[in-house]
Amino acid sequence: MITPSKRLQSLPEGVFQDLALAKGQRLAAGDDVIDLSVGSPDFPPPAHAIAELTKHAAETNQYGYAITALPAFQEAVAAFYERYGVTLDPVHEVLQLAGSQEGLSHLALTFINPGDLVLIPDPGYPIYEAGVRLAGGEVMPIPVDPHTLHPRLDDLSGRDLQRAKMMILNYPSNPTAGLATRQMFEHVVRLAHQHDIFIVHDFAYSELVFDDNEAISILSIPGAKDVAIEFNSLSKTYNLAGARIAYAVGNPTALDCLRKLKSHMDFGVFLPIQRAAIAALREPWDGYDRQRIAYMERRDAFCGALIETGWEVRKPAATMFVWAKTPNGEDSYPFALDLLRATGVAVTPGIAFGPRGEGYVRMAFVRDIDVLQEAARRIGEWLKRR
Ligand SMILES: Cc1ncc(COP(=O)(O)O)c(C=O)c1O
Repeated sequence: MITPSKRLQSLPEGVFQDLALAKGQRLAAGDDVIDLSVGSPDFPPPAHAIAELTKHAAETNQYGYAITALPAFQEAVAAFYERYGVTLDPVHEVLQLAGSQEGLSHLALTFINPGDLVLIPDPGYPIYEAGVRLAGGEVMPIPVDPHTLHPRLDDLSGRDLQRAKMMILNYPSNPTAGLATRQMFEHVVRLAHQHDIFIVHDFAYSELVFDDNEAISILSIPGAKDVAIEFNSLSKTYNLAGARIAYAVGNPTALDCLRKLKSHMDFGVFLPIQRAAIAALREPWDGYDRQRIAYMERRDAFCGALIETGWEVRKPAATMFVWAKTPNGEDSYPFALDLLRATGVAVTPGIAFGPRGEGYVRMAFVRDIDVLQEAARRIGEWLKRR
């Protein structure tokens, strides 16, 4: 008999699986789909990164196991991180990952024993909880305040804080598009020191911050390196999501532990991809601002068109996501499924991000403005005739 482990059974079905099925059925029936359910960027990677990738992919000596990062990658990350006011030792404070999803999924296996308590945001990005479950740890959701979009740390009891071994945070946030403040991070770092909690910050959207807002690396907070690591990725900043390359930075002891686990799990990132990443991180690029502006224009057009239909959505200050209450407080899953079936617009039900995501949907503005406006038009018509 082939039976899954209890570990596997403790995981929910992948966030996108059921919707993918409905999407597939719709496409098979010959109907079109406007897919706003996955945060996969549709802008091109920097031309110099593609040039490096293709140049080295043509060299026959680039196909061996990489095993570890090229030192130039770690140096490039350290140089890049200066923009966040953080100085890193490239050798000890930078660890290459095959995507931050890979690193986040191995995080709890590295640090968590069965029964250990991990604090995660609710709503939050699903791998945080799944990783802890795989390691046999216990999850305690920290409610995210629906207005400030910050974790309600004051809701945690002294006992919770005493028991907690690790806390995971993510700003700019997926799915809520919330932004951190320095005060909030200072509070987190203080709590970490007081209660001996290891802090993990996921900073994947560090370059997708709009208007006059600031992306804050938790490592820029004094004392953070003693208690924290931060994940970042080339997926969203450089549109290299499919290339699978990212990194963790910060506390060297923690990174060493993760490095040890990874040495049993993988043999490194394809060398031409590492070289493309080095070029992306190192070379001057006008794409940082261009892209930010393009996302902002999409955000304004899409939110404007949705608001015109009568759906009062909140304009996000960062990321590529609109996080919106369902118009009549409907449950998110049936809402998303009905919407997809009726209009071909795919969005992600908020429940996929935790119990406090119920009653919300997440819409990624990863299409051109005319497509987003068409999506809003279809949504508006559907809302009217329901
Ligand atoms: C908050 C957050 N963290 C991590 C990831 C995974 O990124 P990567 O492509 O580096 O694995 C994503 C991807 O959408 C994300 O939204």
